[in-house]
Amino acid sequence: MNVKIDGKRKINSNVIIPPDKSISHRSIMIGSLAKGVTEIENFLFSDDCLATINCFKNLGTDIEIRNDKIIVKGNDFNLSAPKQILDCQNSGTTTRLLLGILSTQEFESILTGDSSLKKRPMKRVTVPLSQMGAEFEFLEKEDFLPIRVKGSKNLKPIEYTLPISSAQVKSALIFASLKAEGKSVIKESPKSRDHTELMLKHAGANIKSWEENGIYIVEILPGQLSSIKIKIPSDISSAAFFIVLALICDNSCVAIENCILNPTRTGIIDVLKQMGGEIRIEDVENRNGELVGKIVARSSNLKGVKVYKNDIPRIIDEIPILAVAAAFAEGKTIIDNASELRVKESDRIKTTAQMLKSFGAECHEIENGLEIIGSREKLKSAIVNSYKDHRIAMAASIMACAVEGESTILDADCASISFPNFFDILFSSTKKI
Ligand code: S3P
Repeated sequence: MNVKIDGKRKINSNVIIPPDKSISHRSIMIGSLAKGVTEIENFLFSDDCLATINCFKNLGTDIEIRNDKIIVKGNDFNLSAPKQILDCQNSGTTTRLLLGILSTQEFESILTGDSSLKKRPMKRVTVPLSQMGAEFEFLEKEDFLPIRVKGSKNLKPIEYTLPISSAQVKSALIFASLKAEGKSVIKESPKSRDHTELMLKHAGANIKSWEENGIYIVEILPGQLSSIKIKIPSDISSAAFFIVLALICDNSCVAIENCILNPTRTGIIDVLKQMGGEIRIEDVENRNGELVGKIVARSSNLKGVKVYKNDIPRIIDEIPILAVAAAFAEGKTIIDNASELRVKESDRIKTTAQMLKSFGAECHEIENGLEIIGSREKLKSAIVNSYKDHRIAMAASIMACAVEGESTILDADCASISFPNFFDILFSSTKKI
């Protein structure tokens, strides 16, 4: 489906942003592995999270939607052999975390995904999980889906330093460590999102985490998980599109309540503020270890910025929309040390650069990132390829709202991977200037 957007638009409202994707995946997984009944409020019914639900139903978990809540009947790490291939569709989080979880199960399963997911590397999880005693076979091509996995009840504990920070790899190893025969220690630098650690602490797992000399360390002892009650806050990665919309459009202001403000996720706020973005954070509270609060952003004169290596994991999913902000800023923005972007839902260094160039922006691909020269006056409407990448489709839509004229976003329906009602909210919360 293609979407036409008539620019120049403005926003002046409160926007209800959908629930956090990372936390939604983990709530189903941890609920399924716990003993007892987990209740999830405000779950994200996006394509990626539905893929996780389907995989866990296939693995024998009873998951029921009851009056807006999801009820997960935990099976205390006793999943059943799936009758079908587990289809993770477009979701890297489903795949990699599931590989860690299935490493604790003695049966065999096969995981596959769509054409984008089949291009994303999996050895980053299978190599350390093999060291723990799980077995993997790449069925078509080394490093990629489809993969056969056979777990073990006697996994060895692991001491492992991640070569590149990754919440998906870290979480896969943590899940496997929960059933290993002894203490595991996982290290990374800089720290990636820690929702798995926080939710597992909430579920009573024997897990400790701390930072020492710039290195983040997680220590896990095997044990059981208790069921939890959780209300999922809004996703800052989805909120980022509306924050940038308010910053780059004239006479605009947006307020987003109940948003996740975990410090491993707020890199986008910090960088936009460094660029001169007028953003306020209010009413912050702690919900079972996760910070949640309100974000208010208004039209601003932005300037270019350099994004440093240590900030990359905290802003990894927001680079396409940050690049849009940079195109409207004065001066040069450099985003470097971001080679991980090459292996996301699309090669986001390439696709972000292409998207910006379609609108007439000056943007150069560098080896591990992007260089963008702000050029507000050169920007014009465009027909833009989303490359079927949800975050490219949404970043392009925001850019289309801020420029003059009618733009078309191709294959824009992929926004439903993380933000099912994105276009309804975009059109109802903005109007033509
Ligand atoms: C995620 C981790 C990140 C992020 C992805 C969601 C998660 O991936 O890009 O969208 O929920 O754990 P990496 O761990 O590969 O950096």
